[in-house]
Amino acid sequence: MISVFYFSGNGHSRTVAEYIAKELNCDCVDICVPESSVQSFETAVAVFPVYCQNIPKPVKAFLKMLDAKNVALLATYGKISCGNVLFEAEKLVKGRVIAGAYVPTGHSFLNGKAEFDKNALLMLCERIKSPIAITVPKRTKHVFANLFPAWRSRIGVRIKKNGSCDGCGMCDAVCPMNAMHLGTPNSKCIRCLKCVSACPQKALKFENSFVLNKYLMGHCFDELIVYL
Ligand SMILES: Cc1cc2nc3c(=O)[nH]c(=O)nc-3n(C[C@H](O)[C@H](O)[C@H](O)COP(=O)(O)O)c2cc1C
Ligand code: SF4
Ligand code: SF4
Repeated sequence: MISVFYFSGNGHSRTVAEYIAKELNCDCVDICVPESSVQSFETAVAVFPVYCQNIPKPVKAFLKMLDAKNVALLATYGKISCGNVLFEAEKLVKGRVIAGAYVPTGHSFLNGKAEFDKNALLMLCERIKSPIAITVPKRTKHVFANLFPAWRSRIGVRIKKNGSCDGCGMCDAVCPMNAMHLGTPNSKCIRCLKCVSACPQKALKFENSFVLNKYLMGHCFDELIVYL
């Protein structure tokens, strides 16, 4: 049995996960849904974003507890840098890794769309159906990438609440870090922007710092890398 699992702040990884699940004709499960990986699986596909060249915290926890014989790992990234997250993810999972991909999409902080090369992922789907163990090669990442990634996101991006908030609590409910209280994030926030997209009143907006905007404009690495 194959199942696709995803973590997605702003919908990009969810779009990729839904595409893969459709091709494989299998379930597509949000890892933020409690008990999403309690059973054991023959083959699990994990789709998640790169945040500050790292694996987002909720994804790390999920990968550690995932009980699957075969695991395919797909990391979406916003064309800045994909870091070394697949190599790092491989070390976290118990099962054997059978495929991996770094999938460039739009950047969450640039309101980028979740566009990706669908044809390039078809081969990966075929491999998932006929699994063979692979080793994910190590990639270089920035020397400072491991230094307080969530803190760096917080200082780069502000989440602002406007007057249309009606106190519904939806933002609290969707937050994977338990970091939100009625539109005001605390220091556990990883700036995934899940709360911003979930707010039914569109009361939450994010604003990049000048320095972050400069950084985002000055870099582009746009390569779909598939490991089979
Ligand atoms: C907190 C945060 C940090 C990010 N860091 C990176 C990064 O280091 N490199 C990159 O290319 N994109 C980065 N991005 C962009 C995302 O990796 C990319 O947009 C991804 O597809 C978002 O997926 P999601 O919508 O499923 O969360 C970051 C996005 C966020 C929200
Ligand atoms: S989801 Fe939006 S409207 Fe509801 S409490 Fe949060 S900020 Fe306010
Ligand atoms: S408060 Fe932070 S961690 Fe929680 S959903 Fe919003 S952006 Fe993500």
